[in-house]
Amino acid sequence: MARSSVSPRPRVGANGAPGRLYPQSLDETRAGWRDAFRRVRDETEARAANLSAEDQIVQSMADASPAKWHRAHVTWFFEQFLLVPGIADYKIYDERFPFLFNSYYVAAGPRHARPQRGLITRPNGADVAGYRAHVDAAVERLIETVRAEDADSVFKILEIGLHHEQQHQELLITDILHAFAQNPTDPAYDPDWEPPKPTQGPRGFVEVPSGIHRIGHDGDGYCFDNETPFHDELIPSMRIARHLVTIGEWIEFIAAGGYATPSLWLSDGWATVQAEGWQAPGYWREQDGLWFSMTLAGLKPVDPAAPVMHVSYYEADALARFAGKHLPSEAEWEVAARAGLLADVFGIAWQWTRSAYLPYPGYRAAEGALGEYNGKFMVNQMVLRGSSLATPAGHERVSYRNFFYPPSRWQFSGVRLAEFN
Ligand SMILES: [Fe+2]
Repeated sequence: MARSSVSPRPRVGANGAPGRLYPQSLDETRAGWRDAFRRVRDETEARAANLSAEDQIVQSMADASPAKWHRAHVTWFFEQFLLVPGIADYKIYDERFPFLFNSYYVAAGPRHARPQRGLITRPNGADVAGYRAHVDAAVERLIETVRAEDADSVFKILEIGLHHEQQHQELLITDILHAFAQNPTDPAYDPDWEPPKPTQGPRGFVEVPSGIHRIGHDGDGYCFDNETPFHDELIPSMRIARHLVTIGEWIEFIAAGGYATPSLWLSDGWATVQAEGWQAPGYWREQDGLWFSMTLAGLKPVDPAAPVMHVSYYEADALARFAGKHLPSEAEWEVAARAGLLADVFGIAWQWTRSAYLPYPGYRAAEGALGEYNGKFMVNQMVLRGSSLATPAGHERVSYRNFFYPPSRWQFSGVRLAEFN
């Protein structure tokens, strides 16, 4: 998979405010945003280019969305939040599209039911390509012509749109992998794809400095609102694993009857194991006593040295209990990552933490529809930290808070353990 740089701010201030940290002309700022916009939009199309028109329609479960929907939805986001408010005479490309491609923004109007996105064969792929081209041209026109006094607010929304599209670039990959995993012929997204190599070196646990530490976004570069405010957290005396839990360690858990031992599981986790018939991580399949896993290159034998992925929070928690360990809290994870204590922080698998996805002290969601981006999901989900092999380059941050429901395992989600005195 392409992991070309898609950092949206190549020529703008590192504090996320164009020209504020490194003063530059408005023309230079415009050029920086235009280049960033093109790079992010191109990356989405590059990821979708491996997929046929049929691939792009399918929705394999309610949590996943069709690739064609992702391509259209991120385009709607720019149209809804940037073009409509930013261009006085902007005309919606197709009046039917906002209903089809609004995801969850109640304030932006009614929307199609999420579990039925796969039923939308029209507009077809060419129509969506036309939508993208139309919005691309309009956004670039806005970047070139926005008045100086409006530039900050326009580029702020543009920046959110770019980071939003990068999030969907990752989902495009995880969602098509889930679709392909339902296909008995085990299709490859990219036959030449190879998993990222984990860092070598001594394994084991490292001491995290205890005491009061500040975590969250500290004002340098872009962040989502859920990473704020920067605030104090009390870190107890504890140690955290330098490396991620491996497939070999997971096979030990399976062989020891981990999936058949209720005492290892949270009540909801055990109920899920029973209901879903889980006996191994997501996409694993046993053939002639050997484990295989569905990957972006199709069905492959598992590598015992590779980090495990496609495990739910429930499974991560059970494995930790089996090992006599714990999952780190997100604060413990962040303090350790900031101190450079961890290997494979980014680029392999998101790491479940034992932290519920809650607002940081003093958190306030933005006003208006964009305030729905993160804040309204702060219940019943768990935080994952780091990034995965599907995360676009330049999108990862040490303060980044990903979040999913505890049974979810179609993401590239893995485990890093913690231990206490
Ligand atoms: Fe979205």
